[in-house]
Amino acid sequence: MQIAIDGPAGSGKSTIAKRVANQLGFIYCDTGAMYRTATVMALRKGLKLDDEAAIMAALKPLTITFKPAPEGQLVFMDGEDVTLAIRQEDATNNVSQVSALPKVREEMVKRQRAIAAANDIVMDGRDIGTTVLPQAEVKIFMIASVQKRAERRYKENVEKGIMTPVAVLAEEIEARDHKDSTRAVSPLRKAADAVEIDSSNMTIDQEVAEIIALANQKRAH
Ligand code: DC
Repeated sequence: MQIAIDGPAGSGKSTIAKRVANQLGFIYCDTGAMYRTATVMALRKGLKLDDEAAIMAALKPLTITFKPAPEGQLVFMDGEDVTLAIRQEDATNNVSQVSALPKVREEMVKRQRAIAAANDIVMDGRDIGTTVLPQAEVKIFMIASVQKRAERRYKENVEKGIMTPVAVLAEEIEARDHKDSTRAVSPLRKAADAVEIDSSNMTIDQEVAEIIALANQKRAH
């Protein structure tokens, strides 16, 4: 079974997706982490972020892998643990540019489909229900107010020792939403058959329960 969870930055997707995957015994794939890893690679190599050919040449042989861990999911780039590096400001502020490159998206979509083909999966991102897994049995589009999303990102960041103020995060989230929704290739958009969940005033348990109920309905059919 495939469960696609899309939505804007900080809508709570990854927390919910991880828990749903855990409860169902499915694999969890964080596609944002893949774009972030490509961004870290490009920044480290000093590549121009609009130089698609150079980024693709470096991305093709790059391995991006996930490993479940008690503290969450770890992300590896060519075997190096980049779990923290991909959440730093420079990666966060440049990932929209890298993820807007059509060939980069093509490559990531190919990798994401290969992961999904081999497993029962919960995959979160921006274009999972529309592009990556249009045949997913369950599609969720998660939204939440900008303020709520900034507050959540702030809490996550503080746990990682990153202290950017909520107001700055809110501005970054709005800017990133705009870029993600207006880009030419695979913009963030709700699939026609996705169920919208507004998490502004819901608890994590409520959201998880709602998605599991949808999955169980599908499995019963
Ligand atoms: O979910 P996130 O904030 O970690 O995502 C990081 C960036 O990657 C975000 O700016 C949008 C982009 N992204 C994308 O374009 N397509 C996806 N499937 C997932 C993320």
